[in-house]
Amino acid sequence: MQTTGPSLTGVRLVLAVTGSIAAYKAVGLLRLLRREDATVNVVMTAGACRFVTPLTFEVLSGSHVATDLFEAHQEMLHLSLPEQAQAILIAPATANCLAKAALGLADDLLSTMLLTTQCPVIFAPAMDGDMWRHQTVVEHVATLRRRGAVIVEPEEGSLASGRLGQGRLADEQRILSALQAAVRPRRDWTGRRLLISAGPTQEAIDPVRFISNRSSGKMGYALAQAAQARGAEVLLVSGPTALRPPAGIEFCAVTTAEEMRKAIMTRFAWSDTVIMAAAVADFRPAQPSAQKLKKQQHPVTNLKLEPTDDILSELGARRTRQVVVGFAAETEDLLAHAREKLQAKGVDLLVANDVTAAGSGFGSDTNRVVLLNRDGDVTELPLLPKRDVADHILDRILALQTGRRSQTTRPRTRTPRKE
Ligand SMILES: Cc1cc2nc3c(=O)[nH]c(=O)nc-3n(C[C@H](O)[C@H](O)[C@H](O)COP(=O)(O)O)c2cc1C
Repeated sequence: MQTTGPSLTGVRLVLAVTGSIAAYKAVGLLRLLRREDATVNVVMTAGACRFVTPLTFEVLSGSHVATDLFEAHQEMLHLSLPEQAQAILIAPATANCLAKAALGLADDLLSTMLLTTQCPVIFAPAMDGDMWRHQTVVEHVATLRRRGAVIVEPEEGSLASGRLGQGRLADEQRILSALQAAVRPRRDWTGRRLLISAGPTQEAIDPVRFISNRSSGKMGYALAQAAQARGAEVLLVSGPTALRPPAGIEFCAVTTAEEMRKAIMTRFAWSDTVIMAAAVADFRPAQPSAQKLKKQQHPVTNLKLEPTDDILSELGARRTRQVVVGFAAETEDLLAHAREKLQAKGVDLLVANDVTAAGSGFGSDTNRVVLLNRDGDVTELPLLPKRDVADHILDRILALQTGRRSQTTRPRTRTPRKE
């Protein structure tokens, strides 16, 4: 398969191999990295050496393979290897290695190196599906992500145990793309202005109660962060969420659908792209009470609702040069509802997801979405971390703006069936 990102000419890497049954796949990965012209130092844990010999990596990398923290060497390897590297790629990464990295244990060469390194660290975990889903592993992965590590999620399929599940080492090309992005971050949104909404809105019933929805804001925040990392100026208009405003991004906190509408419309002319990722309430109480309603007042039976303004339709109608992107959270007939919404709202791109699907939708760190554009293209993305979904959406918007299809994604695109 053709690689799409920049090559790794002049890039010095550490490839760390740990004791997973997938350790043999690191041999293919090393060959790929060498073909991409990277200079690679290989580090192996004692566990990894039980699966593949250091000699294999030594021959293919053309340099000494470090396996021992206490190995006699002119330099202290746990300091010198990370110092010289532009990235450390751990592939495959065992559950044990993730745990040690998250906890800061330093009882072998690799784990000690991870405490001294300043460069990007990319983990490509591989393990049994039950291990990957184990709460301890989930928490360690979240800790590492929070600290800035890149996690190339394992893929679903048949595992070494013969069972089916998520745990297979990610495809070589996905690992390579993550590595390329870490060492040579893309700046292809430089000079663009993105207005993005995220999170739910809250519509007051009385001073203590409100109507809202389950949106966590994670997808919108991931989009804002991805666009900023790629060079965009970003304004994030957010309903109430548990997330911290991302650093370096202009942030506007709102509560109600009306406040969100005002904030978006005020800055619409400034933007060249608008992504409405917020789950804006469709209805609000027609007459919110100024005082807390008492039980005896039967607020539930008396609650009258009125529709809120349709921000997305307004944007679709008002836009001049802007690309407008909407989201559709559905629970049934995903494609049919998404197509209707795409037409009805006059947007350029619709991101649809079934919020009831496993690993998808509100609150989850992953999402499985379908992208629909006005030419009738339907692109299904696999289940991915929300940050990866964000990058795919940004790729697609750039492609729309430049009038060509994104070259950086590997999703399936198909022409829709006649229904
Ligand atoms: C046959 C076999 C296969 C294994 N495969 C994996 C694996 O794919 N992922 C994993 O996290 N651990 C796996 N383990 C367990 C690790 O080898 C073990 O946790 C070890 O302590 C990892 O050490 P390291 O992280 O220092 O390499 C496997 C063990 C055996 C015996």
